[in-house]
Amino acid sequence: MGGSIRMKVLVTGGAGYIGSHTCVSLMSAGYEVAVLDNLSNGHFEAVLRAQQLSGHSLRFYNADLRDKADVEKVFYAFQPEAVIHFAALKSVEESIREPLLYYESNVAGSVILLQVMSEYKVKQLVFSSTANVYGHALDVPISEDSHIAPTNPYGRSKAMIEQILSDIVASEADWRVARLRYFNPMGAHPSGIIGEDPRGVPSNLPPYIAQVALGRRSQLQIFGGDYDTPDGTGVRDYIHVVDLAEGHVAALNYLTNNMGLVTANLGTGRGYSVLEMVKAFERVSGHPIPYRIVGRRSGDVAKSYAATNKAEKLFAWKARFGLDDMCRDAWRWQVMNPSGYSRNN
Ligand code: UFG
Repeated sequence: MGGSIRMKVLVTGGAGYIGSHTCVSLMSAGYEVAVLDNLSNGHFEAVLRAQQLSGHSLRFYNADLRDKADVEKVFYAFQPEAVIHFAALKSVEESIREPLLYYESNVAGSVILLQVMSEYKVKQLVFSSTANVYGHALDVPISEDSHIAPTNPYGRSKAMIEQILSDIVASEADWRVARLRYFNPMGAHPSGIIGEDPRGVPSNLPPYIAQVALGRRSQLQIFGGDYDTPDGTGVRDYIHVVDLAEGHVAALNYLTNNMGLVTANLGTGRGYSVLEMVKAFERVSGHPIPYRIVGRRSGDVAKSYAATNKAEKLFAWKARFGLDDMCRDAWRWQVMNPSGYSRNN
C-alpha cells in the first residue's frame, strides 16, 4: 500500500477465530478496520484483545448480515473501501441437521452483503471459502481447478457463494474478488492472547486435542484407523491461523493492484495424520493425549492437502509456520485461557 491514507476494510465475522487474527494482521499492516459481527459464534472479547495486540483501535458493529437495513447502516457509518467476508456458520454436522439455517445465514447473508456493497460501490472483496468445496477430491495435492463437489450443506453453501461471486465479476468488470479456500486452520496468535474458542464440544481435531491435553476432556476419539494413509488415520493440511490471516492481507493487496476474480487455496501443502498430530501435541505440551480409534466419521476423506503454488505466485505469500509451531501456539492459548474468552486468567 503506497499511499499515506489508510484503506478502510470492513471485516464481517471479525470476532471469530480466523477473523480476529486477520484484524490483528490488517491493523499491523496499516489498514483501518471495522468489524461487523452478530456474536453468534464470535466473541466481543476477541475484538478487544485484537486491538490490544495490534496497538490500534477498530470500530465494532453488532449487526447481522441477514438484516439489510443494519448492514446499510454499517456501510453508511464506516464507508468501507473493501470487505473481507468471514461471517458464516461453519459446522458440517449442524448443516446436515439444519440446512435452511445454513443457506439463510451463509447464502442469503452474503447476497445482502453483496447488494449493499454494490449500492455503496464497494467492489473489492476477499471471501472466506473452504477446501470443503472440493468434496472427495480424487487427487492430492488438490489444485484450484479440481472438480467442485461439496458433500454437505455447509460446503454447498460456500460453493454457491463462490458461484454468485463469479457471476458478479462476469457481469461487471470492475469488481475485484478473491475466493480463498482454506484447509485446516490451527494454532493461535503466538502471544496466547487470542485463539480458538469453539462453543460447546469441539467438532474439529485441534481444539479437541488441546482440551484433552488440558484435562478438560478425558479422551480423543480417532475417527477411523483403516484409511489408505501411512498409519491408517486421516491426513489433513493444517495451517497456522496467523499464516492464514496474513494470506488474507496478501490477497487484499493483490486485489488493490488487479481487477477481476482470483481463486486460491490457502494451505501449507503438507499433510499430517491424526496420529502425527497427537504425537506432536503430546511432545509440545508435555501432556499425554489418551485416545481410542473408533469407526470412520461419515463424510470424511482419507487425505486432503493443498497445491499451494497459485497463492504463492499471485500473492507472494507462503505459510511460514510448521506443525510444532501450531501445536505450541494452540497450547499456549489453551493454558493461558483454559475456559476460552469466557473467564480471564
Ligand atoms: N478427527 C478425529 N477426531 C475428532 C475430530 C476429528 O479423529 O474428534 C479427525 C477427522 O476424522 C479428520 C481430521 O481429524 O481425519 C480432521 O478433522 P476436522 O474435523 O478437524 O477437519 P475436517 O478436515 O473434517 O474439516 C475441516 C473443517 C471444514 C473445512 C475442512 C476443509 O471442519 O469446515 O476442514 O478441508 F471445510
